[in-house]
Amino acid sequence: MGTAVSGRVYRNFINGEWVAPNGGKSHLNHNPANTAEVIGEFPVSSHADIDAAVAAARQAYQSWRMVPAPKRAEILFRAAELLVKRKEEFSRDMTREMGKVLAETRGDVQEAIDMTYYMAGEGRRLFGQTTPSELPNKFAMSVRQPIGVCGLITPWNFPMAIPSWKMMPALVCGNTVVLKPGEDTPLSSYHLVETLVEAGLPPGVVNLVSGDGPGAGGSLAKHKDVPVISFTGSTSTGRIIAETCAPEFKHYSLEMGGKNIILVLEDANLDLAIDGAIWGGFGTSGQRCTAASRIGVHKSVYKEFVTGLVERAQRLKVGNGLDPSVDMGPVINEQQLQTVMNYVEIGKKERAKLLTGGHRLEQGDYAKGWFHEPTVFGDCDAKMRIAQEEIFGPVVSVMPIDGLEQGIEVANGVPYGLSASVYTRNVNAAFAALRDLYTGIVYINAPTIGAETHLPFGGTKQTGNGHREAAVAAIDFFTEWKSVYIDYSDKLQRAQIDNNN
Ligand code: UN1
Repeated sequence: MGTAVSGRVYRNFINGEWVAPNGGKSHLNHNPANTAEVIGEFPVSSHADIDAAVAAARQAYQSWRMVPAPKRAEILFRAAELLVKRKEEFSRDMTREMGKVLAETRGDVQEAIDMTYYMAGEGRRLFGQTTPSELPNKFAMSVRQPIGVCGLITPWNFPMAIPSWKMMPALVCGNTVVLKPGEDTPLSSYHLVETLVEAGLPPGVVNLVSGDGPGAGGSLAKHKDVPVISFTGSTSTGRIIAETCAPEFKHYSLEMGGKNIILVLEDANLDLAIDGAIWGGFGTSGQRCTAASRIGVHKSVYKEFVTGLVERAQRLKVGNGLDPSVDMGPVINEQQLQTVMNYVEIGKKERAKLLTGGHRLEQGDYAKGWFHEPTVFGDCDAKMRIAQEEIFGPVVSVMPIDGLEQGIEVANGVPYGLSASVYTRNVNAAFAALRDLYTGIVYINAPTIGAETHLPFGGTKQTGNGHREAAVAAIDFFTEWKSVYIDYSDKLQRAQIDNNN
């Protein structure tokens, strides 16, 4: 695939050392904006590599869990300070490997910084409860305990943020980690792990094993010494992970698809709603699980909104994300581009109205990468496939709605439930919407993207399996409760029996 412009050979990180994969297999990671540019050569790991990483993590767990949480947190704090220093360098590398524009990769690294500081703070909290006992001279409390080796399987769309969402809470709680990053974006995980090591993380506490889903990810999910799996990716892969984990009663957290909606009510500030729709729909080329891929607009303002949206979509400059004048980068790879193009065909066949876009960009420099026009379908029906299925690309489906009630029905009428947004200046409508939208995240007068690290992140229905990431919710996932009773009465006291006399 063209001449390599750059490209170092990367190895796995196991037990504090950089080691070549067992079978010696590797793959070249290319820049999606210019596939002639090689980002690096990364291991394609097998079960033997996962096994070595798990063994290292298992051993390190014995000492790491004994390090006081505030001390574990100090390492995280130092890592956050280093990330701040390297933000620009890491952001540029991320744009090269993932394609999204520099402003967004800076946001991605910032999200990792925020999460790392946040979890460093948790080192001095990790609160349990103290509560009265029902019996005299007896003390009751609950404490959190770590679980062991956590297998973390992360996607390519947030190459540093999502690994940090999983790694930082796992570590501060006293667990050790084997991270399997997205195949298309391993470099950002290397940067994150190198930073943690430089901050003082002992050998074996974090291990990094690159590879593909079935080979490396599957081995990790299956491994008998990995009691915890945290996965972000597609709903179909999430189902396989669930089926793998269930027979062993592993703890598993799944963050999967989304078909998020922006509802624009009749009284909305339309300019603001259009700004939100452009950012929510085409930010990250629509490749966010939180992307606003559906927009329901009140019929009284539908025409005006759609005219404005199309005009703004046409003004977006598509190109290499390192160019500061570019608004939207490529999609991640050829397969993703193909998926987007297929959905455009599906939309046309369903007789949605193609208002703008709809084509791959392949003239001039575009031919070097995986670029697609920002695409808007209008007059969609809520049941159309383009309004039901996750596309994960720059395609937005707009449909007219009669009012809030019907808008909420449409919003809730998909298999997913990650994020939803309502544009309105009516406080009653806003509160009714945030009560009735069955999603994990709701925004009022802001698009569906932009979650902050100290609030729970995740969704309902086929978006997840009941867990949440970020915030204290992440601490809940990466620990188990231990209830502790201390009887200082010096006699046998029988709970539920001796407390009534
Ligand atoms: C994702 O797309 O998987 O809320 C995560 C947001 C980002 C995270 C997105 N902070 O859009």
